[in-house]
Amino acid sequence: MTEDSRSRILVIDYGSQFTQLIARRIREAGVYCEIHPPMRSLAWVRQWAPRGVVLSGGPSSVYGDGGPGLDPGLLGLGVPILGICYGMQLLAQHGGGRVVAGKREYGRAGLRIAADTHGGLFHGFEPGEEVTVWCSHGDHVDEPPPGFVTVAATEDLSVAAFRSRTEPLYGVQFHPEVAHTPRGQEIVDNFLFRICGCAADWTPGAFVAESVERIRLAVGGEQVLCGLSGGVDSSVAAALVHRAVGDQLTCVFVDTGLMRMNERRSVERAFREHMGIRLEVVEAEREFLQPLEGVTDPERKRRIIGETFIRVFERTTRELGTHARFLVQGTLYPDVIESLAVHGPAATIKTHHNVGGLPDDMSFELIEPLRELFKDEVRGVGRTLGLDNAFIRRHPFPGPGLAIRVIGPVSPERLRILRLTDAIYLEEIEAAGLYDDIWQAFAVLLPVRSVGVMGDSRTYEHVVALRAVTSRDGMTADWYPFESAFLARVSTRIINEVKGVNRVTYDVSSKPPATIEWE
Ligand code: XMP
Repeated sequence: MTEDSRSRILVIDYGSQFTQLIARRIREAGVYCEIHPPMRSLAWVRQWAPRGVVLSGGPSSVYGDGGPGLDPGLLGLGVPILGICYGMQLLAQHGGGRVVAGKREYGRAGLRIAADTHGGLFHGFEPGEEVTVWCSHGDHVDEPPPGFVTVAATEDLSVAAFRSRTEPLYGVQFHPEVAHTPRGQEIVDNFLFRICGCAADWTPGAFVAESVERIRLAVGGEQVLCGLSGGVDSSVAAALVHRAVGDQLTCVFVDTGLMRMNERRSVERAFREHMGIRLEVVEAEREFLQPLEGVTDPERKRRIIGETFIRVFERTTRELGTHARFLVQGTLYPDVIESLAVHGPAATIKTHHNVGGLPDDMSFELIEPLRELFKDEVRGVGRTLGLDNAFIRRHPFPGPGLAIRVIGPVSPERLRILRLTDAIYLEEIEAAGLYDDIWQAFAVLLPVRSVGVMGDSRTYEHVVALRAVTSRDGMTADWYPFESAFLARVSTRIINEVKGVNRVTYDVSSKPPATIEWE
């Protein structure tokens, strides 16, 4: 299977908060897809040669000023198109149907499948059957375009899904990509396999084989440097590049002073025992902490850390005499989407340092072999590469480390408090056998003091927040429902063992509307 012959789906992003979920559902079905903004030219689309196109939802109105449009040429390519929500409204508007502004509808609805659906999107559903779907829209299609037929309705939507009688054009007003549409994956699968004729050929093995080729070609005989953070992404990226270019790769673990308890030692040991890749450990605590002094703005912290990493890498490769031309980054697809405006209208949330905070004048060219992957796909690739489970199971750890978990100014004392708190919390999670059920767990040091009483004295000390979330891919997350006995145990230990902390709180916010990290 070559990259060119692989089935792929183009997801055009009109700014919906669910666009990444559409991509997730498609990838989970084993089909490769990419998210692109609406302004891609028709020539570009033709050359990219998707087997199908999905038009996402979005916050605009097809009648509003400046809402992103649809190139009518796309409809003439003969490639199947599925419009979701705003995407459906675009199809309706272009075909001469009617889109009306209604009251905002948000939540579950009962979708009744028409008696004569003839398979298509609803293959496997009973004609006349009612299923639950999730809606989130203001406008909706009131009348399908000529030549289109309504294939499902809800109580409030007379046209909840339509298809063209003559062309492979489909639209749904609800969101099949969200978990609240329980049979959404079946609808997505029907589009991919029955309508577009895709093969489920997106596998970790295929990805590894292609990436190795691509990396070899890009690197040639040059040297490569890879920064290891201790998280799963950089370990998998290192293993992948090592498979491609062997000893041309040097891995560097930078001790930034922003690491968790014993992180340096455990990464070093695990790496040397399992990986067989050259590893350099660089001590750079002062270099990171000095410019961070007094800095409170999270984005500024990220920029400072991103830049310092690059300066340390440049110096290290010079001192080692390897003069690496390339730098490997464990950037993932959600980082790319969340950091850059590749996705058109949706807003930047955070600049994850490994993509957003790099200086313009760095001497390296970047290799980002995981740039197209979601986190669970990275773990699959890690397994395919034979990585030890010790790497694969690790919770994600952000590049800027504890700097974005000490809220407000970062100092050695505040880092000490956080490090100890975090270690106790993680130790208890491991001891309770919960580590693998949780996507990410960590402590946060808050920039407030609270009054307490210890023995007979008043205390005025630090407050920490504990966070644990479950997630599939870090894009949405739910807080983890620990039993109260567990929280009581952790809280008691932290207050007894960490000097300077007199209050422990547990964060019960989901993403959205919160994010996983506090900064
Ligand atoms: P948020 O906080 O955006 O986090 O919900 C989603 C995932 O990304 C990680 N994260 C980062 N990773 N550099 C990184 O390498 C960063 O600046 C950064 N910020 C957040 C976060 O830990 C979670 O896994």
